[in-house]
Amino acid sequence: MTAPSPIRVGLAGLGYWGPNLARNFDELAQLEWLVDTSEERRSDAATRYPGARVAADIDAMLADESLDAVVIATPVPTHHELAKRALEAGKHVLVEKPPAMRAAEMDELVALAHDRDLVLMPGHLLLYHPGVQKLKELIDDGALGEVLCVYGNRQNLGIVRTNENALWSLGVHDLSVILYLLDEEPEDAVAYGRDFLTEGVEDVVFSYLRFPSGKIAHMHLSWLDPHKMRRMTVVGREKMVVFDDMELERKVTIYEKAPWKRAETYGEWQTRTGDIYSPKIDSAEPLRLECQHFLRLVSGDGDRAKVAQDGAMVVRALERLTESLHGG
Ligand SMILES: NC(=O)c1ccc[n+]([C@@H]2O[C@H](COP(=O)([O-])OP(=O)(O)OC[C@H]3O[C@@H](n4cnc5c(N)ncnc54)[C@H](O)[C@@H]3O)[C@@H](O)[C@H]2O)c1
Repeated sequence: MTAPSPIRVGLAGLGYWGPNLARNFDELAQLEWLVDTSEERRSDAATRYPGARVAADIDAMLADESLDAVVIATPVPTHHELAKRALEAGKHVLVEKPPAMRAAEMDELVALAHDRDLVLMPGHLLLYHPGVQKLKELIDDGALGEVLCVYGNRQNLGIVRTNENALWSLGVHDLSVILYLLDEEPEDAVAYGRDFLTEGVEDVVFSYLRFPSGKIAHMHLSWLDPHKMRRMTVVGREKMVVFDDMELERKVTIYEKAPWKRAETYGEWQTRTGDIYSPKIDSAEPLRLECQHFLRLVSGDGDRAKVAQDGAMVVRALERLTESLHGG
């Protein structure tokens, strides 16, 4: 039996993030094309990957009939157009988050991918983090009891962005995790924030989500903060769990803490505290796991519609939070 031929991948965008994708797809698949509008970036990439063809725009890459998939790591405002062109050319697409800035544009991409039976996967890196996978497992197994609320803290002093607010720059990560963990579309999505440093670009954002099941969620997103925090907390009726990406070893901590009522008292709430422990979390690189997942979907395994629909739910929530932030 002959081994299946490797999936042929082209990458657009070789800035800060693109080279990480190039390294992974060079190891996991066949990296065929490297595209960037910058001459300097193309030349660096050509030296590093002499087997790949380089180009200044995506036209020749999309015309390559032997190419299976396109990965897009260009600036956010270009994502929708490039992803649309790649899908129209019949390529599977992995596009950095968020794939579109408007829900209607994302719906268009999802429909295109569905009609042509192509993968449209947003690069929601944190979903592939083994720590987030552990949260999902604990929630889905019922180990925490009924989940009541989830909140994310993504704060630091800097990096101060001037072209993208804290909701878009930081919030996409936490939003994708919260929606993945709860697997529900929020019915309320409210955000408040202020543009202290650059007019029109919110540096600090507080947001609130309420879900049809009654669960609630919150995100504190800021680059004007004394604490460096990358944390997600899930409060269940039986146990509580914290994923802290700043921790080197104890990424996930489970607290056997919960409210309870003693039978002999008259409905008075008490609290109980048991063990506090950290399960072992695999140290695999989340980006590698993300790329492997994409390649599995391209090769026909897994639910390709689900990743696209989950991505659309994130863009819809982002759009509603943005409207709320701007007083809509
Ligand atoms: N998942 C993560 O943790 C993570 C981290 C960083 C960035 N990102 C995402 O990756 C994307 C790129 O971010 P970055 O920080 O690398 O940006 P960047 O500005 O450093 O790089 C973007 C590159 O795209 C090139 N480019 C621009 N328009 C192009 C076009 N039409 N065709 C081809 N090339 C084009 C630019 O020349 C540049 O080299 C963004 O969507 C960002 O959100 C994700």
